[in-house]
Amino acid sequence: MNIMLFGAPGAGKGTQAKFLIERYAIPQISTGDILRAAIVDGTEMGLEAKKYMDDGKLVPDSTIIGIIKDRLQKDDCKKGFILDGFPRTIAQAEALEEMMKDMGISLDKVISLNVPDELIVGRITGRRVCKECGASFHVEFNPAKEEGKCDFCGGELITRKDDTAETVEKRLEAYHAQTAPLFKFYSEKGIMVDLDGTKEVEEVTKDIIKVLG
Ligand code: AP5
Repeated sequence: MNIMLFGAPGAGKGTQAKFLIERYAIPQISTGDILRAAIVDGTEMGLEAKKYMDDGKLVPDSTIIGIIKDRLQKDDCKKGFILDGFPRTIAQAEALEEMMKDMGISLDKVISLNVPDELIVGRITGRRVCKECGASFHVEFNPAKEEGKCDFCGGELITRKDDTAETVEKRLEAYHAQTAPLFKFYSEKGIMVDLDGTKEVEEVTKDIIKVLG
């Protein structure tokens, strides 16, 4: 099963991906996580990407498309994958189509998690992420069982550098200008499913499972 999670920053893509990995035994491919790992490793690509990320802007398409091309070739993608945070522009979506065509595969479903902007700021500024596995929690809406410790791997929970109220505004601007048009792109292909992302985390998971089976 090849699926994509779509939605604004903070809509709950990463949170839901963690449950779907376990249920469907397919990997999550998060371009945000891959970029953050490259920053920690201090690679040239990571250092270049950091400038955009800290400023709430999208990293250039050429960098992102290169990352995905390499990632989809890995053995663990053979049974399927969950795209999280990619594609984010029409150019990325078109490049993905080409890549998948060459591989003889296609996207089965795009799951959109619909959350209005006014809820996004509170979600992002209260988010805590695991330093080890990237799992997302929220101090109020989705707290870890043990404070400061990841439920999935026991890693330390930290605040992401770009999770400030100021950067969120810029990320939302980038989302509406560059990413939101993908809703129409995938709706026209008949694979878009629009879900209410404002429900409780467990309710959203149930709705996704109803769609994917
Ligand atoms: P990325 O890491 O993808 O960040 P993002 O877009 O800001 O998305 P998030 O990870 O913030 O949102 P999410 O939907 O996963 O939310 P989460 O589940 O954590 O990208 C970071 C940067 O990298 C970008 O700004 C860009 O610079 C660059 N980048 C990455 N991919 C790129 C690409 N393809 N092209 C170009 N540049 C790229 O949930 C958020 C919070 O809400 C959490 O605290 C969570 O606990 C809580 N929550 C989740 N669900 C619920 C719920 N149902 N009810 C209440 N709270 C909830």
